[in-house]
Amino acid sequence: MRAVVLSGAGGPEVLEIREVPDPRPGPGEVLVRVRASALHRADLLQRRGLYPAPPGAPADVPGLEYAGEIEACGERVQSLKRGERVMGILGGGGHAEQVVVHERSCLRIPPGFSWEQAAAVPEAFLTGYDALFRAGRLAAGEVVLVQAAASGVGLATLQLAVLAGGRVVGLCRSADKRARLAALGPFHVLDPGLPDLGDAVRLAAGEDGVDLAIDLIGAPAWSFHADVLRERGRLVVLGLLGGARTEIDLGTLLRKRLTVVGSILRSRGPEEKVELVQEFALRILPLLAAGRIAPVVDSVFDLSEVARAHARMERNENLGKIVLRIAR
Ligand SMILES: NC(=O)c1ccc[n+]([C@@H]2O[C@H](COP(=O)([O-])OP(=O)(O)OC[C@H]3O[C@@H](n4cnc5c(N)ncnc54)[C@H](OP(=O)(O)O)[C@@H]3O)[C@@H](O)[C@H]2O)c1
Repeated sequence: MRAVVLSGAGGPEVLEIREVPDPRPGPGEVLVRVRASALHRADLLQRRGLYPAPPGAPADVPGLEYAGEIEACGERVQSLKRGERVMGILGGGGHAEQVVVHERSCLRIPPGFSWEQAAAVPEAFLTGYDALFRAGRLAAGEVVLVQAAASGVGLATLQLAVLAGGRVVGLCRSADKRARLAALGPFHVLDPGLPDLGDAVRLAAGEDGVDLAIDLIGAPAWSFHADVLRERGRLVVLGLLGGARTEIDLGTLLRKRLTVVGSILRSRGPEEKVELVQEFALRILPLLAAGRIAPVVDSVFDLSEVARAHARMERNENLGKIVLRIAR
């Protein structure tokens, strides 16, 4: 099969399309013919040699999600059959024509979804769901703040947060993207560069402040979050786009009785991932199927254009997901 292979660590020039051995499904696994995958910040970091694949994932083929149809079932597969349309997350290896996954890690693609729409769902919506409702314990009517709101994960998280019925505030540096985000849902989207950002957030959030902040920025956002979170507020750190090291005033943590949770999907064990996927299938997949929430596809590139897709993400140009079309 053809796959994107990292020929070394570096810029988009290290991305090569090569023939690699076809994978074979073991017991309980299915072989999926991948029609589309999507790009992710982790793919860029892996390409630069900064984020090695976890054990069990191919070391040199990036790609954390897939959408495609089942081509073959291994022994003892019970819940799926050949020809079914499925999507899901991977530890790596998704930018390839075939992947092998455990049957219980698959999500059925909602009827009517294109391959490109389906490929834009798994990583962004599973991450957002897990952060809001499991790590962040979001309750009905609470106020949520989401950093990097136009990112694949950010935009899925905004939409999921709206389901809880409270106010949803997003931050996004690009004026153009802010205008487009405001048209996509009932979000207050603010410029993180505002000199009085804390006041602007409190105005949008209500005087008590933010109940739950979902952080994709890391270091530069720490003291801002400590300021805008209400007493007993929660912070879930998912990404470090702005850096990993900062100084923390633990006094604020104590005074406000804040909860800080770090979370990552990729390196979790298979059982933990299956548990999340099964819960998501019950609670969120029907809402996707009904159109209450929807993946946002920024752009679609053919597999052969993968370097252009990386460059677009690296320039921070995307709003929503950059999709790779693997096979028609
Ligand atoms: N923990 C997990 O399990 C998990 C899972 C998935 C993703 N993530 C993390 O979530 C983050 C987003 O991933 P993604 O693939 O959805 O990203 P993405 O679609 O590439 O979007 C990232 C956006 O963030 C903004 N941005 C970039 N650098 C920034 C900075 N230094 N400060 C503020 N904003 C910045 C840019 O938009 P503007 O310039 O318009 O603001 C950029 O377009 C990454 O850090 C990723 O590692 C974590």
